[in-house]
Amino acid sequence: IREKNGEEVDVKKIEETENTSIKKPEHIAIIMDGNRRWAKENKLPSKFGHKKGAEVLEKISRYCNKIGIKYLTVYAFSTENWKRAKDEVMSIMILLNAYLDRFIKNADVDNMKINIIGDLDSETVPKKLRDKMHEMEEITKNNTGMIFNIAFNYGGRSEIVRATKKIAEKVKNGEISINNIDEKLFASELYTCNQPDPDLVIRTSNELRTSNFLPWQITYSEFLFLKKYWPDFNENDIDDAIVEYSRRHRRKGK
Ligand code: FPP
Repeated sequence: IREKNGEEVDVKKIEETENTSIKKPEHIAIIMDGNRRWAKENKLPSKFGHKKGAEVLEKISRYCNKIGIKYLTVYAFSTENWKRAKDEVMSIMILLNAYLDRFIKNADVDNMKINIIGDLDSETVPKKLRDKMHEMEEITKNNTGMIFNIAFNYGGRSEIVRATKKIAEKVKNGEISINNIDEKLFASELYTCNQPDPDLVIRTSNELRTSNFLPWQITYSEFLFLKKYWPDFNENDIDDAIVEYSRRHRRKGK
């Protein structure tokens, strides 16, 4: 039991997934922001912020899997992130590569299923990394634990444009008619097809925006904006987020 805003919160209940009054989100999405500011405040180069960020991601994904979260989606690298300094981009790619290696090694124990969302096959993505991501999806495809979506080279608007083109192609080929197009069909052409929308979106580092992250999927999500930087995020923050989510009454416009 920990104290939060003067109230006692039974955190242990979250780990005991059955028999709990706490309503866990089925799908959590996270915008992991603030790595560079964390590094700056600690008088370290940016890449150390990303390194700590990658370590935190590893810990948090395992924790979410352990407490029974069914889907976790994280914003690892946006289509806009390529515009950053070359050495910073390079250090993120190296970290991601090392992260994936560790992930592959632990795939059987962790039992998580990896799904990369984003324009993975773009020429801008280093070939080695592309191959590794495909390999990881293949290795983990029969795992039965949490579905772990890593948004890489991801842009929400371009995801919508991509889905629109796919649907237009199907209409052109006579596979479907315009009248068949509805929200369900549209969602089935997104990277997140067959997955429920995020129930809860968490963004760290005190920025109050969604930055082109899952614009279609988060229209009814609950939002939690935290002041702390991503490298300072920990398991207790997930517990607190779940307790906060549990308190909110979701009406979905009804
Ligand atoms: C945001 O902080 C973070 C990113 C753009 C990249 C996220 C990357 C990681 C968590 C580490 C590497 C990735 C993986 C998947 C292992 P920022 O750089 O925008 O920080 P700032 O807002 O302080 O500038």
